[in-house]
Formats: sequence, C-alpha cells, structure tokens
Amino acid sequence: MAPWWYTAGSTLLFSLGAAASWPYSSYKSIDFEPPKLQVNKTGSTEPGFIFLGPRGAVQPAGQAALIYDNDGNLVYEGPEEVTSNFMVQQLNGSDVITFWAGDMMSIGYGYGTVHILDNTYKEIYTVTLTGDFVTPDNSTKASYIDLHESNITPQGTLLVTAYNVTQHDLTSIGGKSSEWMLDSHFYEIDIATNEIINSWSALDHEDSIPLTSSHQKLGGTAGTQENPYDAYHINAITTTNNGYLVSLRHMWSGYYIYPNGSVMWQISGEDGADFTQVGNANFSWQHDIRVWNETDDSLALTLFNNANTPTNSESPTTGVTLAVDLVKKTVTGTRSLSDPSDTIHSVSQGSYQLLNETSGHVFMDYGSISKVKEYDGNGNVVFSGKFGENNAVASYRGYRFEWSAVPFWKPSLNVTRTSSGAIAYISWNGATDYDNWAVYSASSETSTNNQQISSANRTGFETAVTLSNLTTNYIQVAALQGSKVLGTSEIFSF
Ligand SMILES: *[C@@H]1O[C@H](CO)[C@@H](O)[C@H](O)[C@H]1NC(C)=O
Ligand SMILES: *[C@@H]1O[C@H](CO)[C@@H](O)[C@H](O)[C@H]1NC(C)=O
Ligand SMILES: *[C@@H]1O[C@H](CO)[C@@H](O)[C@H](O)[C@H]1NC(C)=O
Ligand SMILES: *[C@@H]1O[C@H](CO)[C@@H](O)[C@H](O)[C@H]1NC(C)=O
Ligand SMILES: *[C@@H]1O[C@H](CO)[C@@H](O)[C@H](O)[C@H]1NC(C)=O
Ligand SMILES: *[C@@H]1O[C@H](CO)[C@@H](O)[C@H](O)[C@H]1NC(C)=O
Ligand SMILES: *[C@@H]1O[C@H](CO)[C@@H](O)[C@H](O)[C@H]1NC(C)=O
Ligand SMILES: *[C@@H]1O[C@H](CO)[C@@H](O)[C@H](O)[C@H]1NC(C)=O
Ligand SMILES: *[C@@H]1O[C@H](CO)[C@@H](O)[C@H](O)[C@H]1NC(C)=O
Ligand SMILES: *[C@@H]1O[C@H](CO)[C@@H](O)[C@H](O)[C@H]1NC(C)=O
Ligand SMILES: *[C@@H]1O[C@H](CO)[C@@H](O)[C@H](O)[C@H]1NC(C)=O
Repeated sequence: MAPWWYTAGSTLLFSLGAAASWPYSSYKSIDFEPPKLQVNKTGSTEPGFIFLGPRGAVQPAGQAALIYDNDGNLVYEGPEEVTSNFMVQQLNGSDVITFWAGDMMSIGYGYGTVHILDNTYKEIYTVTLTGDFVTPDNSTKASYIDLHESNITPQGTLLVTAYNVTQHDLTSIGGKSSEWMLDSHFYEIDIATNEIINSWSALDHEDSIPLTSSHQKLGGTAGTQENPYDAYHINAITTTNNGYLVSLRHMWSGYYIYPNGSVMWQISGEDGADFTQVGNANFSWQHDIRVWNETDDSLALTLFNNANTPTNSESPTTGVTLAVDLVKKTVTGTRSLSDPSDTIHSVSQGSYQLLNETSGHVFMDYGSISKVKEYDGNGNVVFSGKFGENNAVASYRGYRFEWSAVPFWKPSLNVTRTSSGAIAYISWNGATDYDNWAVYSASSETSTNNQQISSANRTGFETAVTLSNLTTNYIQVAALQGSKVLGTSEIFSF
C-alpha cells in the first residue's frame, strides 16, 4: 500500500490546520494586522524586500499581499484577500507588481484574477479568463484563472493555469467508465487586450501523459463532480525557446510542450522518463520548475522539491538544480539545498527563486511550512524568516525582489494627545524610498503656510514623533528621502 501522503497529497494541499497563537503587528496610523515576520540573519543577503501572501489562520486584517524588509518590518499591505504569486515582474521594460487574488478550493486550486500594478500601486491591467468551464457546484465565476501561475513572458503575455471539471473514462486507473476529474489547462493571454493567444489541456494529450502515470491515486470519495479526481495538478509554466515547460505535480514531471500542444519530452523525478538519471536526479510532488541556459543541446532546471516526506526519517524538502543534456538524454542533479539545522518537510506549495546566477543565492518559500530561507552560493543559510504556525499559515510562493514605489495615496497620520503634548503616528503604506519625516503645525484644515515643528527618522513601518509645546490642533507631515519631499499627508485635526 502506498504511504498515506501519496493518496492524501491533493487533499493536504491547501487545507490548513486550526488557528494558533502567532504574534501580529498593529499600528495607530492605519488599520492593518499583518503577521510578524521573525527573521534570523546569519549572513549577507541579496538586496530586496520579501514578498509573501499569507493565507489560512491569519487575522482578516493580515491576509493580503505583504512586503516586508530584511528586519521584518512591514513595507506594504494590499487589500484583504486571498492572494498568490505576489511578485515583481517586468512588463514592457518597467517593474510592475503582479498577484493573483480570488477564491481557493479546499483541494488546492482556485478561481480568480491577476492584478498588475505600476510603481505607484495603480492597477494598470486586470487579467481575467472566461469560457465554458465546469465547476464542482455548477456555479459560474467572473474569471476562471487558477492560483498557481501568473507569469509574464518576455513577449509581454501572461501565462496562467486553469482547472476544469470534466467527465472521463477512468477504467485505466481502476475507476468507472465515466467519472469526474480535474483537467489541467494553461492559457497564454495578451495582457493589453485580455485575448487568449494559446491554450493547452493535459487531457487532450492522454497518449503522451497517461492517467496511469499519476502518483495521485484514485480513491476515497474522489470521482464526483463535487470532489473531482485531480490527476495532473498543473502548477508552473514558463516559455522556452521552442514552446513551453509545464510542471504537473501529480506526475512528478516537467513536460516540454511545442506551441501546438504536443509533448516534445518529459522529465520525471521518479525515473527520468525520457532521460537517464545520473547521480541523484530525483524529485517528487514538485513546484515552480524554471528553465535556465537553454540551447539546442542542453538546459538547466530549478525547482522546489516538496518530496512530501512527512517524517524526519525521510529525506527533506529540497531546492533542486538539474543539468539536462538533450543530446545524450541525461539528467544530472547538480545542486540540492536544505538547512541542516532546520529540516523541513513541506507537503504542499512552495517556490524556488534563483536570485543571482553569479552569486548562486537562492530564496525559497516552504509552502505549507510558513518559512522562507535564503541560501548563498555554498548552500549555507544566510536568512530565515517565519510568519505563522507550520501547516496553519501558508504562503503559496514567496520571493525576494528589489522594488521602488511611491504610492499614489498620501501618508497616513494619527495624532494622540498626551499630558505634555501629543504623539504623531505616521506611516506611508508601500513607500519604499523615504527615510525621514517632517512634521508641520497648521492653522486650519486648509492652511498652506505651515510651520515645521519637528522631524524624525523613519523607524520601520510606523514612526512615532513626540510633540511638545503644541499651540495648534492641526498637524501635517511630509515623507522625505534626504531633503527631497516624496509625499505629504492631509492636514490632521485632533
Ligand atoms: C487613531 O488613534 C485612535 C486612538 O488610538 C484610534 O481610536 C483611531 O482608530 C485611530 N485612527 C486610525 C485611522 O487608525
Ligand atoms: C538561525 O539560523 C541558523 C542557521 O540556519 C541556525 O543555526 C540558528 O539556530 C538559527 N537561530 C534561531 C534563533 O532560530
Ligand atoms: C450541474 O448541472 C448538471 C446539468 O444541469 C446536472 O446534471 C448536475 O447534477 C449539476 N451538478 C451539481 C453538482 O449541481
Ligand atoms: C470543461 O469540461 C466540460 C465538460 O465537463 C466541457 O464541455 C468544456 O468544454 C470544458 N471547458 C474547457 C474550457 O475546456
Ligand atoms: C507594450 O508596448 C507595446 C509597444 O509600445 C504595446 O503595443 C503594448 O500594448 C504594450 N503592452 C502592454 C501590456 O502594455
Ligand atoms: C506539433 O509540432 C511539432 C513540432 O513542429 C510536430 O513535430 C508535431 O507533429 C506537431 N503535432 C501535431 C499534432 O501537429
Ligand atoms: C530515486 O527514486 C527511486 C524511486 O523512485 C529510488 O529507487 C532511487 O533509489 C532514488 N535515487 C536516489 C539517488 O535517491
Ligand atoms: C548558466 O550558465 C552559467 C555560465 O555557465 C552558470 O554560471 C550558471 O550557473 C548557469 N545557470 C544555472 C541555473 O545552471
Ligand atoms: C550578482 O552577484 C555577483 C557576485 O556576488 C555580483 O557581483 C553582482 O553584482 C550581482 N548581480 C546583481 C544584478 O545583483
Ligand atoms: C537620522 O538618520 C541620519 C542618517 O542615518 C543620522 O545621521 C541622524 O543622526 C539621525 N537622526 C536622528 C535624530 O536619529
Ligand atoms: C517647551 O516650552 C518650554 C517653556 O517655554 C521650554 O522650556 C521648552 O524648551 C520647550 N520645549 C520644546 C521641545 O520646545
């Protein structure tokens, strides 16, 4: 009999445990309650902020796209919603923020839209997908984009996944001649027009991707419309020189797909499939396969190898690099990352981000284990972060990105009176570049000739400035980078 996590793989994927006590931050200037990011810095990191989308036993005021700095201070909190793939990508030569938001189904797929924001956090594109999709309860959705991928290609198109509920002959895997299953689709969408440029369905290629290869066993109550059997579980797509590379988690495989949808080759973490494994080239239940250094003769793959080994007697979740020789048809494991002082077994979700090919630094998000780690070129951990209780809070993926933003909204201010004066609490959600504040006394809610009465350096997300000898009920603040004003608040009356 297969170990329990083989058949349970999909059910485990997104069903998180009960709430537990994890510390949250709160502020006087704005109504946010993000989970605290506890950091352990053990070396020098690549530059950039940390991008997370915590979900599960997170307070409603903290379940959002979140950016933190390296000290664990909040930098940005997006709207309260379930998100995934919160990242910085390039669109037409500019840095943009992208994330998926929507509803997640308990067995690990979703229905939502992809939001694209500029460096003022203005939404410049909202990508949606409509079509004749079938859902477990026959409900119709505004958009059928699944949560697993939101990848902008160099051509300025967006690659997304979608799950469709359909009936199929499952006799080859011990089922009935007509049972309900999830088909795995991907779509390439033109961002500017929202038009579909290409689409693909795993079930259309049953000859090359047979159901009998799935490690997700048909069993329990799966096979109904309400609980469809998840044979493939698509979770990553990237464009390649000659088509696409698709990750199917339940096949333990990546597939190189021609533009017409035919499979060029398969690489499996179990036995290599079309390739002969050299050394340890194993992986299973993987996420986030990416292609590097592709030529006609070779390429490299990086991926998050969940391994789904729940006990410490089994090999841990690792970050894997594979060298693929397309001529000799070999796959060689060239790098495997794990923290010997903190063995992790992540049964669902996760990501692998190669930060810099020269330094070899890698940032990994551990999915159902609410941790992130950065490794250096020697495989040593230089940074660890934790943002919730394991298996209760998850971020589907997590990243480090450089990001510079001046929000289109104004700084937030709240002034509280004290016996000797007042304290001004000030923040500017999402602003990355200011480093100090100027505080002004105003004579009315509309006055313009305001007098500077204090200044303070930025301290994390919110800065508290003690004000004495106040002769006014009106305060205004300005956020500065050095001596340059980046933004000015409304006048606050107290
Ligand atoms: C401002 O502070 C007061 C007192 O702490 C609080 O009641 C109020 O909710 C705060 N306003 C905002 C916008 O956070
Ligand atoms: C910090 O990380 C290092 C390296 O992973 C580890 O040895 C150490 O135990 C960690 N410290 C804490 C407090 O977690
Ligand atoms: C969905 O609609 C079809 C066609 O009307 C019906 O046969 C089926 O029972 C419905 N399924 C659910 C889960 O409501
Ligand atoms: C989804 O599956 C149904 C059959 O259940 C099929 O009619 C429909 O065309 C499929 N949708 C897509 C977008 O392939
Ligand atoms: C990118 O730039 C090209 C050329 O200016 C333009 O046609 C296209 O619409 C732009 N794409 C997006 C998504 O802005
Ligand atoms: C898809 O394209 C490849 C490469 O051009 C070709 O070998 C294959 O026959 C095509 N498949 C179909 C079904 O047309
Ligand atoms: C790779 O996995 C196979 C089973 O899928 C196992 O037989 C083999 O020992 C593994 N290889 C290594 C190097 O762990
Ligand atoms: C790509 O090739 C360069 C040059 O050989 C090498 O430094 C780099 O590590 C390779 N990238 C990957 C992901 O293997
Ligand atoms: C990548 O790392 C190398 C070696 O540490 C460094 O010289 C280079 O500046 C880094 N590149 C970027 C884009 O940060
Ligand atoms: C503010 O920061 C600057 C630059 O780091 C430093 O020189 C200055 O002493 C700081 N001022 C206060 C009041 O801490
Ligand atoms: C507040 O006023 C008192 C009395 O005029 C003065 O001694 C003190 O220096 C003032 N404090 C500040 C911070 O200006």
